[in-house]
Amino acid sequence: MKILVTGAAGFIGANHVYYVLGKHKDDEIVGLDSLTYAGNLETLDAALKDPRFRFVKGDITDRAEVEALFEQEKFDIVINFAAESHVDRSIEDPGVFLRTNILGTQVLMDASRKFGVPRYHQVSTDEVYGDLPLDKPDLLFTEQTPIHTSSPYSASKAAADLLVQAYIRTFKLPATISRCSNNYGPYQFPEKLIPLMIANSLADKPLPVYGEGINVRDWLYVDDHCKAVDIISRSDKVGEVYNIGGHNEMRNIDIVKLILGYLGKPESLITYVTDRKGHDMRYAIDPAKITADLGWAPETMFADGIKLTIDWYLENKSWWERIVSGEYQEYYEEMYGDRLK
Ligand code: NAD
Ligand code: DAU
Repeated sequence: MKILVTGAAGFIGANHVYYVLGKHKDDEIVGLDSLTYAGNLETLDAALKDPRFRFVKGDITDRAEVEALFEQEKFDIVINFAAESHVDRSIEDPGVFLRTNILGTQVLMDASRKFGVPRYHQVSTDEVYGDLPLDKPDLLFTEQTPIHTSSPYSASKAAADLLVQAYIRTFKLPATISRCSNNYGPYQFPEKLIPLMIANSLADKPLPVYGEGINVRDWLYVDDHCKAVDIISRSDKVGEVYNIGGHNEMRNIDIVKLILGYLGKPESLITYVTDRKGHDMRYAIDPAKITADLGWAPETMFADGIKLTIDWYLENKSWWERIVSGEYQEYYEEMYGDRLK
């Protein structure tokens, strides 16, 4: 198989490259990424030494560039991880989210149609379903839950999903969609909750917890997400949508305390800050469909995955310290400067 992985220098895209290289010894992968602030080529160092992997710096919204790549390579599977992915940034500046997440998806699907790619897979998110109340723990997102978005990020992802469904119906594009819950693991950019809290704890800096810290997320180890995407993208389930999650709901504050405890740091570092605008209260995925249809189930328990993750950040300080000391620092000031005063 020859696979195009877009967003390959980002958190989940890079983990997917390593997952596929390890799992499918005869596959070749092309990684396409425009290297935004969230893309880090250093993450792909090991993959770049593998002759089965090739990296192309390019923008998924650049139609000419994308078509030239599709013409040159004959892809069997296109997996679109490339996106603007951070909710807080989408609240500050929605435009680039609409461009990359919606128009980029259109360009990739048009190229897939033009060059007859047998499978297009869209990596989406549980955020397209909006949120769930805290007082109804039995309510979970199923694939039938109405789309109901809260942030410019989730609205852009939902728009892309609807476009994929339109291409499936109108143009018979052989496509699938997956909607996953919050991922954690190695190589996550330290602006997201878990790596940010690890990095700040290690630097004895305040840990900015939004609101009361009682919002709930449903955490999945990144390899389990990659395994699910790999299975769906090779399945015969054209036209289907699959939720991916591991029944692992946790309050933000409990995650933060767990990280502090593991690192032996004091809870006095916790600093409650102004809440995120439109902050979704709770996400919870029902993964029954993917388990029934494709036999997928998560393999990494949170207790193990979070230790693996914290240990990875301890052992790979240079990876995230370079990020924290660079452009990210300016963004950090912009985002938290006022909130911490
Ligand atoms: P990320 O921000 O870490 O990585 C995104 C990558 O896309 C970066 O390498 C970036 O350079 C690249 N990119 C951005 N704009 C591009 C463009 N125009 N052209 C080419 N490349 C571009 O994101 P992530 O957390 O790895 O998320 C990957 C995908 O998974 C996204 O589609 C996201 O919506 C989805 N998702 C993420 C999570 C999560 O918890 N992180 C959960 C569910 C779904
Ligand atoms: O659910 C899937 C989504 O998970 C993905 O689609 C997104 O790409 C991904 O970024 C993630 O979105 P969240 O908004 O849930 O993730 P984030 O890490 O930004 O925040 C997790 C929770 O922690 C959320 O309730 C906000 C809170 N938070 C976050 C940060 C960065 C804080 O309390 N403090 C912080 O500094």
